[in-house]
Amino acid sequence: MSSNKVTIKFGGKSITCRPDTSLAVALWENGVRHLSHSHKYGKPRGVNCARGHCTSCLMRVDGIPNVRTCHTPVQEGMVVEIQDAGAFYGPPMQKILSIGGHLFPVGFYYKWFTKPAVLSRFFLDQIRPLTGVGRLPDPSAAVADLPAASAEQPAEIIPSANLGNLGTLIIGAGPSGLAAALAANGPVTIIDDHLQPGGQRASALGTLAQSTTTKIERFGILASAHKRLKTLHEDLKDRSDIHFHLGMRAIAGYRPNGLVLRDEHNLFTSTFTNLIWAAGALDTLGLFPGNDTPGVIGPRAAYRLLQRDGLKVEGKRVLVLGCGFDLWLSAALLAARGASISLVVTEPGNNSEVSAAVDLGWQLTTGLQLSEIREQGLGLVEATFVPRASTPGPAHSHMRLKADFAVICGRGKPAYDIPYQLGADLTAQTELGGYAPRGAKNGSFSGQLPNGHGIQVLGEAAGALPGYPAASNEKKVSS
Ligand code: FES
Repeated sequence: MSSNKVTIKFGGKSITCRPDTSLAVALWENGVRHLSHSHKYGKPRGVNCARGHCTSCLMRVDGIPNVRTCHTPVQEGMVVEIQDAGAFYGPPMQKILSIGGHLFPVGFYYKWFTKPAVLSRFFLDQIRPLTGVGRLPDPSAAVADLPAASAEQPAEIIPSANLGNLGTLIIGAGPSGLAAALAANGPVTIIDDHLQPGGQRASALGTLAQSTTTKIERFGILASAHKRLKTLHEDLKDRSDIHFHLGMRAIAGYRPNGLVLRDEHNLFTSTFTNLIWAAGALDTLGLFPGNDTPGVIGPRAAYRLLQRDGLKVEGKRVLVLGCGFDLWLSAALLAARGASISLVVTEPGNNSEVSAAVDLGWQLTTGLQLSEIREQGLGLVEATFVPRASTPGPAHSHMRLKADFAVICGRGKPAYDIPYQLGADLTAQTELGGYAPRGAKNGSFSGQLPNGHGIQVLGEAAGALPGYPAASNEKKVSS
C-alpha cells in the first residue's frame, strides 16, 4: 500500500508532503515559492508555466542540476536545493545591476565575446559562476541517473522512430483542432501533449461540470464551452479515420515539411502534406511591477497545478484578476476546489457571470487597475490597485489586497514557434497578443508554406480568444 506522505529534504530541513504530485507543488504546499533565481539580477523565480517550457522551476534534485521541478514527481527521500546564485549575487550586486543594468543588455552573457574562441571561452568561464545555473552533477548522482548499461539490467530504451508522412496533421486536440479534424475529408492525425483530447481547459471544465457548489450552469460562457466539447467528443465517436497520438508534442520544425516530435520517452521524426496548427496560446501576465513574483501565475498554469497536480487550495484566498474566458474559468475552478475568491474584473461585460460571482459571495471589484504585486513573506502576495482613469461614475479609491497567490488572466500569446520554423509568414500583431499569421481573421488562417505545403492556423494560435471558436469550423461541425 502506498504511503499518503513522503518526506523530502529542502534547505537542510525535512519537510513532509503528499505523494502523487510534482515536486514544485509539494514545495508550494509547504510555503516554498522561491525555486530559482533570474540569471541577471538574481531575482526570485517560482512556478511560471507549469508545463516544462521555461526555466523558472529549475532546482538541484538529488545532486542533479537544472531539474524541472514542475515536471518531476515528488519521491520519498529527495534532496532538493535552490541552485547556487553565484558568489556575487545578493542585494549589493542587484543594486549595482539595477543602476547599471542598461550596460548589460538582455542576453549579454551569451551574445558578447563570441569570437575569437579563446576570448569566448575566457568570458564564459568568468560569467557562468555569476549566473547561478547550478554546479555539475555530483558524480554519484550522475551515474545513478544514467540508463543501466549491463546485460543483467537492460535499460528500457525504445529507439527513436520515423513515423513517415502523416498526411494531414493537426497539432493540438483542443476545440479548434477537433473541429478541424471533424471537418476534414479523409484521414487525419492529431497530436497533443495531453493524455485526453479536449485541450488545456477540458479537465477544468469537467471538474466544474461535476461541482455541486460552483455549478457550471451559473456561468453561461463556461457552460457553452463545456457543451461544445461534449458535442465534439460525441461526433468523434463515429470517425475511425481520425487518429490520435496523445502525450506527444511537436518540438521542432525543419523545412520544407519535417517535424520532430517527442513523447515521454522517445523522439520521432515525421513529415506532413498539410499542417493544421491549433496549438493554442501561452500565458502572458502583462506588464506591471512584480509580474515575476513567485505566486503570480497565468490561468493555464493554474489549470495544470490544480488539475494535474491537485494543488490544495481549500481555505486559501486567491486573487483572480483580468478579463475574458479564463478569468471566469479559473475563478470558478478555484471556488469549486474550496478557495476564497477575490475577483478584480478589468473589462466591462459578462454581466450574467458578474451576477453569479456576487451570488456566490466572491469579493468582486471593478473600476480599478493593477498597479503592482509584491511578495509579502509567509507565502503571501499583495496587490495594489489604482483607480482606472476612464471609469465613469463616482471616483474609486485605491485598494490593497492580500492573497495566497494571484492568477492573472487576459489574452494569451499565440503559440507560433513551429510554423515560424517552417517558414510561415508571421507578423507581430499586438491586437492578437503576439506573432500570428499575416492575414489571420476570426481565429483562422489558411495559406501555404514556402514550398507549397498547405498550412492552416486555427483558434488561439491565430489570435482567437478562448471560448470563442473560429466561425468557419463551428459551421462545419454543426452541419
Ligand atoms: S518549466 Fe517548470 S514552471 Fe516552467
